[in-house]
Amino acid sequence: MKRTIFVALLLLCGPALAEDPPAAPPAAPPAGPPPSAAPPSAAPPSVAPAAPLRALEAADLGCLQGWAQVGRTRIGSLTGQVDAAVAVAQGGPGLRYPPGTVVQLMPTEAMVKLAPGASPATDDWEFLKIKVKRGETRIVERGGAELRNLAGSCAGCHVGAKAYDHVCMADHGCKPLPDFIIKAALAAVADDPRCAAPPAR
Ligand code: HEC
Repeated sequence: MKRTIFVALLLLCGPALAEDPPAAPPAAPPAGPPPSAAPPSAAPPSVAPAAPLRALEAADLGCLQGWAQVGRTRIGSLTGQVDAAVAVAQGGPGLRYPPGTVVQLMPTEAMVKLAPGASPATDDWEFLKIKVKRGETRIVERGGAELRNLAGSCAGCHVGAKAYDHVCMADHGCKPLPDFIIKAALAAVADDPRCAAPPAR
């Protein structure tokens, strides 16, 4: 009997959970530290940028293996605010990444948080398609809501995670990526051709 109720609950809640849009984020807080997650030593997201905001260039991208990581997502910053960005990634819904945050799942795609108001249609994220080979990173396409890959519109998928500032991770409300893509993404990081080979002895 208990089991039947449990199954019924699952059936009822499953689709509801899946379809519920994420709770509307509280009007963009100037980001205090996230409620939990951040260790006391982590800089709060409001920490002042260590470098001025500027457009991302290919030279800002490189071997992903050394980047900070939350879930599968690699996190960098053009403004020296990696700790603040990591704190947002570890925090709950409603937080906003500092301008200059760069996130990547695989070497060939990235998102960069632009200055406030720079791209209202994407909550100020720029999407990038990248080619990498040994020692080289080339940006082949960059843009806002119009940018797509074979799976569809970057922004169209990522808006599912609007409450998490469009960063999908595994469970922030985006249509999930098929397993084979996740595997390929992780393999591409492990085999990133830009990572220096260990020095020969
Ligand atoms: C079919 C939906 C879909 C499309 C289309 C899509 N993404 Fe994503 N993306 C995801 C999901 C889901 C994840 C999280 C994967 C994980 O860690 O489980 C993700 C992860 C990422 C990440 C790492 C940060 C994060 O959100 O977790 C970046 C950067 C990214 N995608 C960029 C892009 C770019 C650039 C495009 C377009 C060229 C794009 N994506 C198109 C669904 C999509």
